[in-house]
Amino acid sequence: MLRVRNARTWGGKVWNEREANVTPQAVFNDRRSIVKALGLGAIGASIPGYVQAGLFDLFGEPKSKQPFVTQPLSFSADNQFGQHEVLTPEAKVITHNNFYEFGTDKTDPFENAQGFKVDPWVLKVEGLVDRPLTLDLDDLTKLFALEERIYRLRCVEAWSMVIPWVGFPLADLLRKAGVRAGATHVAFETLFDPEQMPGQKNRLMGGGIHYPYVEGLRLDEATNELALLAVGLYGSTLRPQNGAPIRLVVPWKYGFKSIKSIVGIRVMDKQPPTSWNQLAPHEYGFYANVNPKVDHPRWSQATERRIGEGGIFSAKRIDTQPFNGYGEQVAHLYQGMDLKRYY
Ligand code: MTE
Repeated sequence: MLRVRNARTWGGKVWNEREANVTPQAVFNDRRSIVKALGLGAIGASIPGYVQAGLFDLFGEPKSKQPFVTQPLSFSADNQFGQHEVLTPEAKVITHNNFYEFGTDKTDPFENAQGFKVDPWVLKVEGLVDRPLTLDLDDLTKLFALEERIYRLRCVEAWSMVIPWVGFPLADLLRKAGVRAGATHVAFETLFDPEQMPGQKNRLMGGGIHYPYVEGLRLDEATNELALLAVGLYGSTLRPQNGAPIRLVVPWKYGFKSIKSIVGIRVMDKQPPTSWNQLAPHEYGFYANVNPKVDHPRWSQATERRIGEGGIFSAKRIDTQPFNGYGEQVAHLYQGMDLKRYY
């Protein structure tokens, strides 16, 4: 997020070296041939990541040496939140990602995460709870009733998607653990495994974040009906690039709050630290509610580019809605708060 355009994505030797180093050979060759096929060979090295993600989509489902295998899920359909939305094509949802543990370019997670191991997985729920939980991979899809939620995802970088998630309310998990009196916040932590997540051991590749990636919510935000723990999208289990096997989705907040590949949830009595806030506190607040009236210090948040609409070179933008359009469900949580101060 800090580097929307950087030397590595905008051409030159450094980009080329890095590309060859971190991309599995088959994908690397595939990308080169796509570029060549379009007659873009000469400028291929300077095509930014997001355009390359678009190039993949021209050719349907992206190919990889050994793509991660997903499983179909059973769930009840969304009849409440997103029936009128135009879904972002799945090929976009799984190739245009932010997951800095696998690199900072939009296609890096797709390219670098296919071998990520989610089995065995352990998710611990602890802190101020009556019944601490230790959940394994099976528990994540079997312990709670799964439902589909079609939500808009608005990234702080001013792009957005509409994604049919499958998951269960975070409130269900917290109810099962039994939140104790005095609790005020919930903290989340991503897996720390530098062998599997190369960005965690390489500061440049990992975007300067201090890992593990951590996030947090106020307890009333965490128990709001919209806060979802997603285990799938488009009807099947999550791929690594989208945060397998379990990730948070808080659709009224900028995407960086929706932490991926969670191994720890801790109920607390104070506000927990959060990764982007630690890295650049003047740019990324704890709340991070989508707000077209509070600009990022370096760009406007008034409009957004809906990924997948209007073609890959389209500059078409749509208006950003307060709370990403979920004000009816969440605005009351912030009554009386100065949203410019608590950004
Ligand atoms: N979680 C972890 N652990 N690491 C990350 O880099 N990126 C965040 C969020 N969750 C991130 C993360 C950001 S900036 C966004 S916009 C969303 O994931 C993107 O989710 P998606 O790639 O599934 O669209």
